[in-house]
Amino acid sequence: MKQIRLSIDEMAAFRKRKGFIVKSGEIYGGFAGFWDYLFLGSELKRNIKDSWWKFNVRDREDVEGIDGAIITHPKVWKASGHVDSFIDHIVLNKKTKEKFKVDSYEVEKYKKSKDYSIEGSFNPMFVTSVGPKGSKSSIAYLRPETAQSIFVNFKAVFEGARMKLPCGIAQMGKSFRNEIAPRNFLFRSREFDQMEIEYFIKPGMKCPYEIPKIKILVLASGDKKGKELDLSEAHRKKIIKKDWHAYWLGQSLLWFKGLGCDLDNFRIRQHDKKELSHYSTDCWDLEYNFPFGWKELQGIADRGDFDLKQHEKFSNSKLGILDEDSNKRFLPSVVCEPSFGVERSLLVFLYEAYSLNKKGNVILKLDPKLAPVKVAIFPLIKKREFEKISKDIFNNLKRKWNVNYDESGSVGRRYARNDEIGTPFCITIDDQTLKDKTVTIRERDSQEQKRVKVSEIVNVLDGLIFGEKTFKELS
Ligand code: GAP
Repeated sequence: MKQIRLSIDEMAAFRKRKGFIVKSGEIYGGFAGFWDYLFLGSELKRNIKDSWWKFNVRDREDVEGIDGAIITHPKVWKASGHVDSFIDHIVLNKKTKEKFKVDSYEVEKYKKSKDYSIEGSFNPMFVTSVGPKGSKSSIAYLRPETAQSIFVNFKAVFEGARMKLPCGIAQMGKSFRNEIAPRNFLFRSREFDQMEIEYFIKPGMKCPYEIPKIKILVLASGDKKGKELDLSEAHRKKIIKKDWHAYWLGQSLLWFKGLGCDLDNFRIRQHDKKELSHYSTDCWDLEYNFPFGWKELQGIADRGDFDLKQHEKFSNSKLGILDEDSNKRFLPSVVCEPSFGVERSLLVFLYEAYSLNKKGNVILKLDPKLAPVKVAIFPLIKKREFEKISKDIFNNLKRKWNVNYDESGSVGRRYARNDEIGTPFCITIDDQTLKDKTVTIRERDSQEQKRVKVSEIVNVLDGLIFGEKTFKELS
């Protein structure tokens, strides 16, 4: 099987054709920067979020989750600096007439060039009004990041869940940014989902966890080419200064690797000083080699105590926690903020999965945990007794997974349809099923088939979907 790199427009067209994702209001010509996830796309997105939540929250003892409001209290955004410092500058390419956004630190470079002009600046937060229109107090914002409701609820969660430092609070959900030029399919949208963790420590605390053994291309600030290094080596050589950064970058890479991604397509890059956001003192991006270049997939910023300090100041409340050693209150420090866009991860999984087999047919080799449809059921013969046993299997399996029942077209056509959407297992019900109560399970990537007892299907698939067994191991 060969991995194929579609252009981003080809990928968008493929997703639309197969019922994954379409533009919002497609029948009205589409609404730039907004997307609707259809019957397959919504399952894929849900599976990505579930997998991230399990890996980063459920499976860890030191991380709790929350789910905050999208329209956050407006004072939160004043305190966080978003009202005053979250500014995009609009640049016009005089030749192509294309407009795009740049950060404040890049403005001077474009001002000096005769090919570009700065067209103004604006705050990309979406404004809405709450309650009766017209009153000034009614102005509110759609959150541009999920992080802030973690900070304002930090103390309640920390104390309520009886957490101990070091520890993290996670959240996933919608964020909104009024992007000047949404582009590259899902990559830059105006409405997107984030998955974020704020990881709190007592200042100076060392990371007690082992840095994952992963070799990756590392670009320290100012280094344009980078070096292939093991994460712990990069930390030992002081390229990645904090052990926490090496550890959390490693966790993100492990998550992608565990879901079948090839880490040769990933690299980590440190922000230059002038590139850092108003709240951070160090930041490493996890980048992916998209067909339109290396681009940010995740930012991991060191936010220190910037946010808790600001919210203490603006709310007049005490957000410090008790230090059991000194019996004094202090503000914990956010040493790492692993912040992912769900859509960008979804694009990565699609790129990593899109392949052609020897016959030139598309196989979307998504990890079974991510695949929108886990199993497809094909009754081969259109007779009552076949339909009865097929429907029984279908009804049994769909209590556990998203399952397709497909009785139309040749069996080859049914396999091909499911390969293209990434269904890892297809079950055929044939003559022999009636005789010995067995079915054929066919695996997507190897296209091998094995006979399994009807009574064992759930157990067998469970092991295969969660990766506890391989298809080859089935007797
Ligand atoms: N809380 C920190 C924060 O929001 P960010 O670098 O602005 O940091 C984090 O955003 C992640 O959110 C990015 O790495 C990216 O994956 C995703 N993201 C940001 N803007 C996006 C957009 N317009 N469309 C899709 N994803 C976006």
